[in-house]
Amino acid sequence: MWTTIALALTVLFIIFYKAALRPPCFPPGPFALPIVGSIFSILPSPKESFSRFQKKYGPICSYKVFDNWSIIVNDPALMKPLLADPVFSGRKHLYLFSLRDEVISGEKMPLGILGTSGDVWKNQRRFTLRSLKDLGFGRNSIEPIMQKELEDLINTFSQTEGQKVDVGLTFNSSIINVIWAMVIGKRFSHEDVRLLELVDKVNKMLQSFNPFHPAYRFPIIKKFFPNLDVYKSQDTYMRQLLSFIEDETAQYEKELLADESSFSYIRAYLKEMKEAETEGKETPLNMHHLKANIFELFLAGSETTASTLWWAVYLLASNPDVQKTIQKELDEVIGEDKLPTLAHMDSLPYTTAAIYEVQRVADLVPFAVPHETTEDATVSGYRIPKGTTVMFNLSHGLKDPKYWKYPDRFYPEHFLTEEGKPYKPENFMPFGSGKRVCLGESLARLELFLFFATLVHRFSWKLSDDPIVWEKSIVLSRPPRFMVEISNRNSNAVF
Ligand code: HEM
Repeated sequence: MWTTIALALTVLFIIFYKAALRPPCFPPGPFALPIVGSIFSILPSPKESFSRFQKKYGPICSYKVFDNWSIIVNDPALMKPLLADPVFSGRKHLYLFSLRDEVISGEKMPLGILGTSGDVWKNQRRFTLRSLKDLGFGRNSIEPIMQKELEDLINTFSQTEGQKVDVGLTFNSSIINVIWAMVIGKRFSHEDVRLLELVDKVNKMLQSFNPFHPAYRFPIIKKFFPNLDVYKSQDTYMRQLLSFIEDETAQYEKELLADESSFSYIRAYLKEMKEAETEGKETPLNMHHLKANIFELFLAGSETTASTLWWAVYLLASNPDVQKTIQKELDEVIGEDKLPTLAHMDSLPYTTAAIYEVQRVADLVPFAVPHETTEDATVSGYRIPKGTTVMFNLSHGLKDPKYWKYPDRFYPEHFLTEEGKPYKPENFMPFGSGKRVCLGESLARLELFLFFATLVHRFSWKLSDDPIVWEKSIVLSRPPRFMVEISNRNSNAVF
């Protein structure tokens, strides 16, 4: 009997030893168990766990999620050159992307920008950036579209005086409309049920996705248990969203493509694709990629910007002194009968600093989107094999006391020089950096400025005494739920 026990213990020891054994010359990190890896050290709150790992293991560490070794880079000085390095710019094909790609094309081939690597990524990203730039992305021609959305928002908020309001997803419809205007050249009315359903689906899909869930990590489980809730909910939202995009694209092809004066991303994409077909030229553009790209512009572009504005209202309402200082600057520079325009961007240093500070405190995308190495590499003497998942801890550069005087406060002065000019320190990277830097950064900056400055100039925001409720979220840092009292100011101001 003792021999059997000894044998069993030896086998167990080997299993545990092998599971915990890091690849040669790999960064340090938490212990890994057989099958689950370090998952119990990471969940339930990956953000807090990664911050703990950073304190314990330093600028670069590693962990194992089930069978997959990953590294996490914490030090912004180390991060910058890696983010600029093509070897660190590959992407893992996450469950959400492979599900989307299968629904679109019936195949597993990676589509779009967010979840692709190599030439597919380069071609789709390059075309999308170029055509969105031509459409005014990052320039002032997008301004009237944003102003139209703001007029609707002002109308909504000005009627709520004396009530308690949950701003929640209010900004999502406006932000989706800005993207939709560029993608397809039209907007929805804020009462349109299709817009409200769209907002709801994008939100639910992102909030319910947990990349650490074993069901997403091992999609093989789906073969045997396709009806598990984790699959069913994502499948349903994904199919509904894609069918919306398909219907709108088909409608567009029928109605607007013939109209030479119409102007949109879809038009530019279809035009270039069809011209190449007519000339018999090879083109990386096709309908599958187009649908995937539109899906990503929605997903990556709406929830991020809208949640930042939601955070902004929370931070303004809970910091009345800061709010008053911003309003004073806006009143002095813009005047009480005008609303801010993009032309004011360079003359509002405190407001600009306050927007950066909202992004710092919100820490919206704490670990970017997982990257993957495309070749073997060496970092700080560690060997990182090809195919390793790489997380970039953007959060560390936004929150560590080493970089900020009051890391836990809302303190716009963090972003002002002694002369009162706005500046951005190197460790401030809310949009990432390098090759994979956020494709929508310039649009997001314009949106954040115009929405934030207009809403603070036109209204005062006061936190009500109802309880503030923090909800758990894994992919994006969600603001708390709170009630706010909105009062009108500068009521006659116009753009
Ligand atoms: C406040 C708003 C936003 C924030 C904080 C944000 C942040 C980010 C971050 C951190 C990444 C990942 C970078 C990396 O993996 O290294 C990213 C990627 C991306 N973002 Fe944004 N984003 C915002 C708004 C937008 C908007 C408005 C759009 C488009 C309309 C957009 C489209 C994308 C796309 C397509 C990618 C993938 C880029 C690639 O893989 O090459 N984002 N964003």
